[in-house]
Formats: sequence, C-alpha cells, structure tokens
Amino acid sequence: MIDKNHYGPWAVIAGGSEGVGAAFAEQLSAAGLNLVLIARKPGPLEGTAAKVRANGVEVRTLALDLLDADAVDRISAATADLEVGLLIFNAGANSYGHEFVTGELAGFRGVITLNIDRQLELAHHFGARMTARGRGGIVLLGSLSGYLGAEHQSIYAAAKAFSRVFAEGLWLELRPHGVHVVELVLGVTRTPAMERAGLNFDIPGMLVAEPGEVAREGLAHLADGPVWVAGGNYDAARQRSGFPRAQLVEGAARAMRKLLGRS
Ligand SMILES: NC(=O)c1ccc[n+]([C@@H]2O[C@H](COP(=O)([O-])OP(=O)(O)OC[C@H]3O[C@@H](n4cnc5c(N)ncnc54)[C@H](OP(=O)(O)O)[C@@H]3O)[C@@H](O)[C@H]2O)c1
Repeated sequence: MIDKNHYGPWAVIAGGSEGVGAAFAEQLSAAGLNLVLIARKPGPLEGTAAKVRANGVEVRTLALDLLDADAVDRISAATADLEVGLLIFNAGANSYGHEFVTGELAGFRGVITLNIDRQLELAHHFGARMTARGRGGIVLLGSLSGYLGAEHQSIYAAAKAFSRVFAEGLWLELRPHGVHVVELVLGVTRTPAMERAGLNFDIPGMLVAEPGEVAREGLAHLADGPVWVAGGNYDAARQRSGFPRAQLVEGAARAMRKLLGRS
C-alpha cells in the first residue's frame, strides 16, 4: 500500500483519464490520496473523476491539451493551493508515427513537446516543491521502445530514451532530498489508446499487460528507481540494451511490423 505520508496528500496525474492513468487514479484514490487528473477529452476525464471520488477522496479535473503553450501555467495555477506529493507523467503514447524524412516536422515536434518539454517542465515545477518539503515521488512512463531505434516511430523511441536517461539523473539528484524518481518502463499494454491504434494483441508468445497490473507494479516500486521495467519485460529490456546494434534494431523492427500487421 502506498505511503500517504510520503507521497500525499495530493497526486497529479498528467494523462489520468484512461488506461494506465485511470488505473493509477483508481489505486491512489483507494489508498486515500486526493487527485488532480489531466486529459484532453472531458467525457472520459469526468467519468474517471466520478468513479474515483466514490473512494472518498477529493478530485480536481483539468481538461487541457498538454501541447498547449499555457498548459503548465494552468496546471501550476490549478494546484497552487495543494501539497502535491506525487507526480505521474503518463500521457505520451506516440501521436505521430511516420517515416522521418517524408513526415511533417510539426507532427514530430508534438511528440517531443509532450514527451520531453512538458515532462521536464512538470518535473521541474513539482520536483522543486517536493525537494523543499523533503519528500515525494515522480513517476515517468517509459517504454521498451526507448531502448532502440524504430522505423516510423524514430522520434517517439528517442524521446522515451531521453526520458529514461533523464530519470536516472533526476533520481540521483532528488534521492538525498527524500524524493523518489522512477521511470516505469512498459511493454505492450492493453490501453484504449493502443486499441484505437489497432495494435494486434494476439500474437502468440507476446506479453500483453493490463493497465491495472502495471500501475500496481509501478506504485509498489516507487522507491526502486531509477528504472523499473514492468510486466515481466526485464529480459527484453536487457536484450535491447546490448550489441551488435544492427542485429538488434533489425530484429525489433521485424517484431514491430508483425505487431502492427505490416507483415
Ligand atoms: N499502451 C502501451 O502498449 C504502452 C507501451 C509502452 C509505453 N507506454 C506508455 O504508457 C503511457 C500511457 O500510454 P497509453 O497507451 O495509455 O496512451 P496515451 O495516449 O499516452 O494516453 C494516456 C492518457 O493521457 C491522456 N493524454 C494523451 N495525450 C494528451 C495530451 N496531449 N494532453 C493531455 N492529455 C493527454 C489521455 O487522455 P486524452 O486522450 O483524453 O487526452 C489518457 O488519459 C505513455 O507514456 C506511453 O508512451 C504505453
């Protein structure tokens, strides 16, 4: 059970309406943490908020697009009177998959703005306050994709690699101040975003995690940073970190084509 005294009384979940974000909301509210939930679509956001309020906690919702230039100012204003002990940066699935040179730079920039700029800005904002208080936690959602380059998602994969290495540095810096940082690395997870993207979850032998399972694993290992690989994917992460790179990158590309039904 998550320690409310260390990570409470409020948690902010950027991307807290669906999938893994909603599972975090459910589990944190059951543990008695109040929540600020952020997402674009008001419908699922209010649905999740209503559900978790039934656990007896306070919930604030912020329907905004994290890509908007004033997103962090709005989050800062909406949480100015709250003691936020936990930041979960969950939003970040690939929003623009395309071959690089024929793609639109604006699309790639969106992936970078969400996964790098907003992640840094929110970690900076809330991390400073947690450090001053001498307690708290930051969870950044990573991906097995962040361990090697990939066709049609070269920017997403690179952004997730950035996040993982950033988490390691932040973990070192914040640990002496009682603030726990963990990059929660996911493999294939059955979320609404992936279902909408048409991912084939039925490939024999492929590990597919449920949102509730990976959220539970992340919360149980908040203090086991800087990196926690969820869903039984440690071997995959280890293998993708090795050499020779050409062989690994080609092999993963073949598996991804299968997952996306391209071969
Ligand atoms: N699912 C997988 O197989 C998988 C695998 C590896 C890593 N991951 C990582 O796990 C995290 C969660 O992934 P996911 O599959 O649940 O998809 P996701 O699209 O990142 O959605 C998660 C939540 O974020 C919100 N969101 C997305 N873009 C947003 C934006 N621009 N502004 C505000 N809110 C936004 C969504 O609500 P709205 O759409 O209403 O905004 C939803 O509540 C991501 O960081 C992803 O990279 C997932």
